[in-house]
Formats: sequence, structure tokens, C-alpha cells
Amino acid sequence: MSASTVAVIVVAAGSGQRLGHPEPKAFVPLGDGTILSTAVHAVLGMHEVPHLVLVVPAERVADTAAAFRAVAERAGAPLDVVAGGSTRQESVAGGLAVLPHVVETVLVHDAARPLTPAALFDEVVHAVQARGHGVVPALPVVDTVKRVDAGGRVVETVDRSTLAAVQTPQGFPRDELERAYGEASEEFTDDAALAAAAGLPVDTVPGDARAFKVTVPADLDRAERLLADRRGREASAAASLAQAEPEAAAGVAAVAGAVDGGASVPRIGTGVDVHAFSDDPSTPLWIAGLEWPGERGLAGHSDGDAASHAIVDALLAAAGLGDIGGIFGTDDPALAGAHGAVFLARARALVEAAGFRIGNVTVQVIGNRPRLSPRRAEAERVLGEALGAPVSVSGTTTDALGLTGRGEGVAALATALLVPAGAAGRLVG
Ligand code: CTP
Ligand code: MG
Repeated sequence: MSASTVAVIVVAAGSGQRLGHPEPKAFVPLGDGTILSTAVHAVLGMHEVPHLVLVVPAERVADTAAAFRAVAERAGAPLDVVAGGSTRQESVAGGLAVLPHVVETVLVHDAARPLTPAALFDEVVHAVQARGHGVVPALPVVDTVKRVDAGGRVVETVDRSTLAAVQTPQGFPRDELERAYGEASEEFTDDAALAAAAGLPVDTVPGDARAFKVTVPADLDRAERLLADRRGREASAAASLAQAEPEAAAGVAAVAGAVDGGASVPRIGTGVDVHAFSDDPSTPLWIAGLEWPGERGLAGHSDGDAASHAIVDALLAAAGLGDIGGIFGTDDPALAGAHGAVFLARARALVEAAGFRIGNVTVQVIGNRPRLSPRRAEAERVLGEALGAPVSVSGTTTDALGLTGRGEGVAALATALLVPAGAAGRLVG
């Protein structure tokens, strides 16, 4: 079991007064298990299997450890179960206290949000690692919001465009969160507020409606219904796959079973990019990671290498990390004139941090010039070295039609296949 640099602390030590069930809220039945087991199932479906810390009422530590030991071990997740405190904040602090040294990124999650999808955990981890500070999932507020006085009279309407409803998991660099907890001298309702009080930046990623909190009995009914719908959809998808392709169905089930129902299957992505030829005849041409002496160059803030940019988009899309514009600012001075290799190396690092290995990449360059075929092997080698994976390069024209046919620029279309790093061995054969 390799040590993970990511930890998820699931706080489950509350009593659930508003739910009004005899059991503490996390131990209330949901689906085939409990609120807590449903939340843990999502955590163990993350791309990078984390160190899992469950914070539960003191009298439930032993039975929780016994109940989750096997499932955590099967997923390869180190597990700690500790007693919580009398407030959520104390419970989080209890979880932080047991993290091993190797942990660099910490997510804090309410067990009371059991249907939060694994992908939201992955997204928070990526965002914390890419931005280097705290990140919380947030949804826009859809209701009109009023400020109301003690007597119930409406005082004013609050501008909802500046408001967000914040969820969990909330992610932080471990040292920042520890420092903020060390400094906290009052009670906060969430970790983002505590971090902000310590002067730390916290920003958002898009939240997910399924990450709603089970607070009152109607929320539990909603969670039961959504879970039943999900089970129904999974069962019918599995049945049709089993009928059409029994071998594929067995393979998918084996991989999914290995991570306890998680989504560790290969992922594919597509990317397109177009650059116009430059008006300046002295601009060099860079395409597919190579310089093409004597050819007219392409315009762009970077070197205009449409093939490399299309590959970056395909990689990011496959990993669910957005697109090149969202990751690399088009006016970032550090990227002025930057070569494709810079973008490729950064995209590779991002998808690897997200728990993938690049399987292979194809890119087709569409344009009248340059003629790709004489240097195809060279381009494949350069791009392949940048990505640490096989890259196929091909070229085509558009029969004199369209912007590339008229010689106005060059387009490129790329496809990338990513393989979950942890599951790679199991997928072969
Ligand atoms: N929590 C905790 N320790 C506490 C209080 C809360 O670990 N002392 C956890 C809860 O188990 C829950 C999350 O923090 O997963 C969010 O809290 P909330 O929804 O308020 O849960 P409860 O405090 O259990 O519910 P209530 O406020 O209705 O009693
Ligand atoms: Mg509470």
C-alpha cells in the first residue's frame, strides 16, 4: 500500500439533532448501507486513492474501524478512525492530528453530504494542487435572498449575484490548514471561513447539486430516491453492456470492483486548434513541436503550434480538467512565444497529478503547408518525448476548401487516451 499525499477527513461525529433519528446522523441507514458508508464509497472512487480519516462519535470508533477496514484495504486506502469533539471544528482538528507526514493536500468532507460524486473530490484535489491554496465547491444562489429583521419584516433584498452556497469537500494545502486551525480562536461553520480568518486565500470550483447536505428528514428521503435512481441506472447499463459485450462488461466490472465501484476506466478526449498565418514574414513556423525553416509562421501569443495546442486540449478534456484557455491564460506574459513543448509538459504534469498516465495521442494537422510526411517521424519522436507516450502525427488537406484550403492558416485535431495510473496494470489484457 503506497503512501498517499492526499487525505480526506470525513467528519461524522455530529448527533444529527435536526434529523431526529435515534442513531447519530452518519449511522442512519441509507440505501444498502448508511449515510457514512455512502460517503466513504464516493471517497474510495477518487482517481488518486487518498488516506482516509473517519471522525466519529467516541463510542463508535471501534465498530467503525471494524466496519470499514476491509473496504479501505481493498481500495488501497490507509484508514484511521478517530473520535470527534463537541463541535465540527473540534472534530476536524481531531482528524488533522492523525495525518501522516507524507500528506500534502487535505480535503475535509461532511459525511452528511453522502451523494457527493467522486469527481467533485478529484476536482477539488486538482484545483488545490494547481492553485496552491484553499478551494471550496460553490453553487450560485438561485432564490431571491432577503435580509429580515428580528420581527420577521423584510429589510432589503440582497444582491444574489455576489453570493454562493458552499459545499464540501473543501480542500487545502495541508500546512495552510494546520496553521489556520492552530490560530483559530473562535468557532467557524466551515473550514473555508476558518482559513479566511487566518488570512489565507480560498476560492471556488463549481459545486454539484448532488453534494447537498442531509439535515432534516426530507433531505434523507431525497437522498434515498436519488440513490435508488442511480442504482436503477447502473443496473440497466450493466445489463445492456453484458448483453452486447460480455467480455467488456466483465473487464469494466473487474476494474470498478477493484476500486469499490469507482470510475477508474480509461478516458478519451478530443481537442481542436486553429492558427492563422502571420502577416510578418519573419515569424518562424512551429508546428507539431518542430521548427519548419523557410515556411511562413503562424500568428499567436505563443508560437502558434496548433498541433501541440490541440493535444493539450485533448489531454485536459480527457482528464476533465477544462481547456487550454482556462489553464494557461492567453495573455500570460510567461507564455509569450512559448513553444508547444512547454504547454505539453504542463498538461502532462496536470493529468498525471490527476491520477492518469497518457496511453497514446494522435494528432492530425490540416493545411496546405507545411508538408508533414518528410518529418513525421521526427515530430512523433519530439511530441512523444514531451508526453512520455506514443504520439501519431498525420497530415491532410481540405481539397482547397475552407480556411485551411485557402491557405489562411493551419488547423489541428487531436485525440488523447488516458489510463488511470493506479488501475493501469489491471486493464491490460
Ligand atoms: N460534525 C462533527 N462533529 C460535530 C458536529 C458535526 O463531525 N461535533 C459533522 C457532522 O457529522 C456532519 C458535518 O459535521 O457530517 C456537518 O454538520 P451538521 O450537518 O450540522 O451535522 P450534525 O451536527 O450532526 O446535525 P445537527 O446540527 O442537526 O445536530
Ligand atoms: Mg450541526
